[in-house]
Order: sequence, then C-alpha cells, then structure tokens
Amino acid sequence: MQIKGLLLGLGWLSAAWAQLADTTDYPIGPLTSSSAKWAVKVCDITDYGAVADGATDAGPAILAAFEACIDGGVVNIPLGTFALETWVTLSGGTAWAINLEGIIVRTGTAGGNMIYIEHSTDFEIYSSRGEGAIQGYGYVFHAEGEYGPRILRLYEVTNFAIHDIALVDSPQFHLTLDTCNQGEVYNMIIRGGNEGGLDGIDVWGFDIWIHDVEVTNKDECVTVKSPANHILVENIYCNWSGGCAMGSLGVDTDISKVEYNNIYTVNSNQMFMFKSNGGNGTVTEVTLQNFIGHENAYTFYIDAYWTEETLAAGDGVLYNSITVSNWKGTCANGATRAPLYVLCPSTQPCTNIIVEDFDIWTESGSTEYYKCADAWGSGYCLKAGSAHTEYGTVTSTVTSAPSGYSATTMPGQLTAGLGLTTSIAIPTVPSSFFPGATPATARVYGS
Ligand SMILES: *[C@@H]1O[C@H](CO)[C@@H](O)[C@H](O)[C@H]1NC(C)=O
Ligand SMILES: *[C@@H]1O[C@H](CO)[C@@H](O)[C@H](O)[C@H]1NC(C)=O
Repeated sequence: MQIKGLLLGLGWLSAAWAQLADTTDYPIGPLTSSSAKWAVKVCDITDYGAVADGATDAGPAILAAFEACIDGGVVNIPLGTFALETWVTLSGGTAWAINLEGIIVRTGTAGGNMIYIEHSTDFEIYSSRGEGAIQGYGYVFHAEGEYGPRILRLYEVTNFAIHDIALVDSPQFHLTLDTCNQGEVYNMIIRGGNEGGLDGIDVWGFDIWIHDVEVTNKDECVTVKSPANHILVENIYCNWSGGCAMGSLGVDTDISKVEYNNIYTVNSNQMFMFKSNGGNGTVTEVTLQNFIGHENAYTFYIDAYWTEETLAAGDGVLYNSITVSNWKGTCANGATRAPLYVLCPSTQPCTNIIVEDFDIWTESGSTEYYKCADAWGSGYCLKAGSAHTEYGTVTSTVTSAPSGYSATTMPGQLTAGLGLTTSIAIPTVPSSFFPGATPATARVYGS
C-alpha cells in the first residue's frame, strides 16, 4: 500500500492495482497435467452404462465413472450425444479431469444444477478437440415463461481449469464459480437466450483468471460477486448480453484486487456496472481498462440505489480506488442514459474513483451527459479533493464527440438476441474474443 501511494504521489500513470496472487505461492489451474491423468486411469462413461443415443440417461454412468477415477484419472465422455436426465453431484476428487469430447443434452426437468462439482482439487474439465458442449435446451422452459436448472456449478474447488467447451441455452445460469480458488477459465463460448436470469459466468473466491470467453445471453456476461479478491478477467466478448458487472452487493461486501482488461461489449445493458442498494463493506482496488463497446444502454455505471435488489442494511457499500481507463466506442443514447454515471451512496460517498481516456459517444442524437453523485476522485464529473462528503448530483453536458471515440467492431456481431422459443445451435469456440487479441492459450478447436 505504501508503494502504491508513493507511485501516485510521483504522478505516475494510474496504478493497475489489481492482479493475480503470486504464482509461486498460489499456482493457478490444475497441478497435474491432463496427460499425466490420462496415464493414471481412464474411466470412459460408456464402460459404466452410458449410451451415445441421446436418450439413455448418462447421469448414473457419469457418477460411476467419477467414483472409479476420483483419486486421479480422467472421466472420459467420448464423441456422441449423451442425454442427462438425472443431475450429478461430483463430490471430492483429487488430480482428476473430465474430458468432454461429445455433447451432453438435457432431457431431465428438475431444478438445481445439471452438473455440480464440489470439494475438489486439481481438477480440469475440457474438451481435447474443442468440440465438447453441454446443451441445456433452455428454450423448452423459456417458451413457457419458466426457468429450469443451471448447467455447471463449482463449489469450493481449488486449482482447476475449465476450457475449450461450449455451454449452450441454459434453462438458468450457465457457469457459477462459488467460493473457488486458483482457477482458470478460458477458450469458452456461452450462448443463452435473450432474457434476464440466464447469467454467463458468475464468480467469487480467490485468485481466478477468466480469459478468452464469449457470452451471449442478456444477463451477466462475466460478473464478480462478493467475497472475492485477485480476480483477472481478460479478452471477453459480450456479444449481445447484459454486460459485465460486480454485484449485486449487500451486507459485508468484501471485494478487492479485481482487474478487467480488453472487454468488448456490444448491444448489452452496460459495459460495466456496480450494483448495490444499501449494504456495507468495501469494493477496492479495481481496474477496468481497455474497454470497447457499441450500442450499449449503459456504459460505466455505479448504481448504489439499484432497486432491482432489496434494500440491504447499512450506510452503503464503500466504492474506493476504482480506475476506469481507455474506454472507446458508442452508447445507444447518451442523453437518456449517461454513459458515465457514478451514483454513489449519499451516506457513503465513493472515494478515489479515477476516470481517464473515457471516449464514448452517442449513437443517437448529438448530446450526452456525464453524471456524478457523491463521487470523489478525478476526471470528468468526479469531484476532486479529500472532503469525501455528500454533495448531490453534478451533471455535465457533452455536445461533440470525444476525439478518439471511434473504435473497431468485431466480426460476426449479432443483430438480434437469440431465441427463447427455438433451440440455440451449438457454436464453435471462436479464435478471437477482442479486436486484435489472440487467446493467451491457443484454442484446441481445429488444431
Ligand atoms: C454490516 O452491517 C451488518 C448488519 O448491520 C453488521 O453486522 C456488520 O458488522 C457490518 N459490516 C461492516 C463491514 O461494516
Ligand atoms: C456473435 O453471435 C452471433 C450469433 O450467434 C454469431 O453468428 C457470431 O459469430 C458471434 N460473433 C463471434 C465473433 O463469435
């Protein structure tokens, strides 16, 4: 902390505070290579009763294969279509993996989680050819105005990776990482229906790197919840989604050292939003840098009065030391929804909110607003100084496009949301998730 203060005091560029934990002390991802696991034991689900006919319930076979490979080995789901009629809870397990070559399709109708993995260490779920997928057929529920199960949830899993698979049309959330540590999620595509409640990735825990992921849905793209620290989210394509966020935050919020870098967002609710309503605790040391967006409703938005969340006890969450840097592109209508909107709790004003190189212009009309309420820091409508008192709302009007707002578009942008009444096709994992960026680890599809 002292070093950080010193750097700022010397007038350096804003500190990129957030980062993963030290990799020597806290390695990320599985500790054992997948090839070593293959060499120990392979438990192919077809040896435990699964049939690739899209009809026979593979649930019991996945459970039996897991029990046989729980102490090191690979649960192999080979090419073919396997029905999942009963959900599986895979509890425990060390130095193991699931290789998903084939496709799991939901046929059961219970709520809960189709695949729930808990109390596991040194775990990997991946597709060695990059064609594995879980198809939730959520449209069957959504067409009736209902929700069903979530696809994949990890709870208290340490040293893990999830990669090179597609999660498609979940009846509810797609991927939840609940209280997980030292994990990596990459080279993934998530395609859900065009409505709320179908979150892409929700994550909380410690030391997790999520990168090279595309999400389509209309709710959370990649969202951090409390408690969390040391979370790095990079090269994300929110291709018609809700957008990335932090929240919703309530009592005892405890989030620090989070960085989002290279985030491309199109036709979403927001490019980044913090959501709370009352509550207490802190969000601190967050960096949101290198964002490109087009036609989003909101852009950078702190909403400490988010009424979709029940009012929580407390004076408000303290938002402190949040740096927003190098944002480009357009919003849908900057006169109706300010692209820079920092609405802090009046009883707990935000501190050290730094906004720099924020060049967003409006798609419609020729005026947009920046709005800050009880928000202290620097740049644009942020109030400088150290009083950190309540001051109400300050609005500034922008009547010409900020220079440098123009930004590239990704190929293959959606022109409409995906259906709620018809099945969503299984896509392939893309080769890029941010303009000009290649995945940190090459995708295996097509290799
Ligand atoms: C938040 O509020 C709750 C309930 O009023 C209280 O028990 C807790 O100590 C508070 N936490 C913080 C971090 O202030
Ligand atoms: C965005 O989604 C659409 C519709 O599913 C798809 O056709 C397009 O390829 C996606 N874009 C990219 C770059 O993957």
